[in-house]
Amino acid sequence: MTDTQDEQKQAVGEAAAALVEDGMVVGLGTGSTARFLVDALGRRVGDGLRIVAIPTSERTAEQARSVGIPLVGLDTHPRIDLTVDGADEIELGSLALIKGLGGALLREKIVAAASKRLVIIADESKLVKRLGRRTPVPVEVVRFGWQATAAHLRELGAEPILRHAGGDVPFITDGGNLILDCKFDGIADPRASELAIDDVVGVVESGLFINRAECALVAGIGGVRRIVR
Ligand code: 5RP
Repeated sequence: MTDTQDEQKQAVGEAAAALVEDGMVVGLGTGSTARFLVDALGRRVGDGLRIVAIPTSERTAEQARSVGIPLVGLDTHPRIDLTVDGADEIELGSLALIKGLGGALLREKIVAAASKRLVIIADESKLVKRLGRRTPVPVEVVRFGWQATAAHLRELGAEPILRHAGGDVPFITDGGNLILDCKFDGIADPRASELAIDDVVGVVESGLFINRAECALVAGIGGVRRIVR
């Protein structure tokens, strides 16, 4: 069997949607894999599942509304039962993650931090032995003085590149900030790197997610498998 990447994303989206139970507050991730989760959950809501959900981006909020998932905020629901989200890299063994290539890392981390459980969904291409060799770490920074922030990140060994939405127009996050995609030569100690990046003045949050995922549902040619730490 040779599933396409989209079929694999759909398989993990549907497997994660099956984890959702009546009465739950659910965190909805962002990205092409999370889209399949939202579609599958929308179908379950249509069949009578009673949940409320908190989206991690305006994009996901729009999709969730379009499939009939009732949305709430952290103001009324500060504790989330289960969040399902994608990832750009998943480190085997530790389940440390790089997230944010989709630009939603800040809300994703706030929602993850408010969640009792975080389940990551991905296809096998996201599994790595060491984070950061292939994928830059997205870092959300405030607009004021971003060049100075980038210089500090360079001192940490990163090669920061300002993300663009197209042409010369910088990408602006849902929080109104910029993203610096920071290429490292591999990340030996993800927690130390997360702390060092967060310590830089001007940084709002980094796309390193450490000790947050309970498990990852990973789709490959043989089907979906559950990976734990
Ligand atoms: C968005 C994210 C996404 O979860 C991550 O980029 C994975 O996206 P995709 O499922 O499209 O590969 O962190 O900020």
